[in-house]
Amino acid sequence: MRCVVANWKMNLTAAEAAAFCETLLERITPQSSMGQGVEVGIAPPFTMLGLVSSLVRTRGIEVFGQNGHAEPKGAFTGEVSMPQLRDAGCSGVLLGHSERRQFFGETDAALAKKVKAAWQWDLLPVLCIGETLEQRDAGRTLEVLGQQLSILAETGPGPLRVAYEPVWAIGTGRRAEAGQVEEAHAFIRAELQRHLAGTAYEVPILYGGSVTPDNFPELLAIPEVSGGLVGGASLDPVKFADLVAQAG
Ligand code: 13P
Repeated sequence: MRCVVANWKMNLTAAEAAAFCETLLERITPQSSMGQGVEVGIAPPFTMLGLVSSLVRTRGIEVFGQNGHAEPKGAFTGEVSMPQLRDAGCSGVLLGHSERRQFFGETDAALAKKVKAAWQWDLLPVLCIGETLEQRDAGRTLEVLGQQLSILAETGPGPLRVAYEPVWAIGTGRRAEAGQVEEAHAFIRAELQRHLAGTAYEVPILYGGSVTPDNFPELLAIPEVSGGLVGGASLDPVKFADLVAQAG
């Protein structure tokens, strides 16, 4: 199954989000790629989850949180729990985005708990992994990906998407080369098989990092690339609709 997910990060106001959804829905019809089995998702900031859910969910577009806390409730100022994400209309949650790891100290240990909490509340986790440029230059890419995926030995199998996002390709306009993507995705698939055995092939692996309508078809042609997690280009509803159409 192909998946295209928009990660808006900390962008857009409610009025801009509503305008985005209006344009997107004009361009995506059940007869287009969504009817061809493409899973389409939008991950807005927390403040717009309810609004975006109310606008797009009846049209078959899923809404994702950009993060979620492992505890269901309590004294965690500034955090949002998995049941609260569900309550706001989410069916999934991005976990372990490199910006969370880099700027907010997200650890693999915390992520194992978050994946399990997501499942407990019937949310689909999109586990984001990827190496920094320093790690790649040191020849440590596969080791880093293996470490980030090792939490699956603890969580066991469940509904899951994995997004490979090389940190150096995010927001830089410098997407990974086809050979680099192919090597990483093949390795991720092998690790999924090691940890999840029979269910490993049910896990789509998305690529993220400077995805645009110009380079997405080439990325989709790479073995084991099941779609994209898109930042900058996903803020433009015309470009995002193009990406969805390309995945169909
Ligand atoms: P860009 O598409 O802006 O490079 O961002 C990718 C990303 O981080 C999606 O989660």
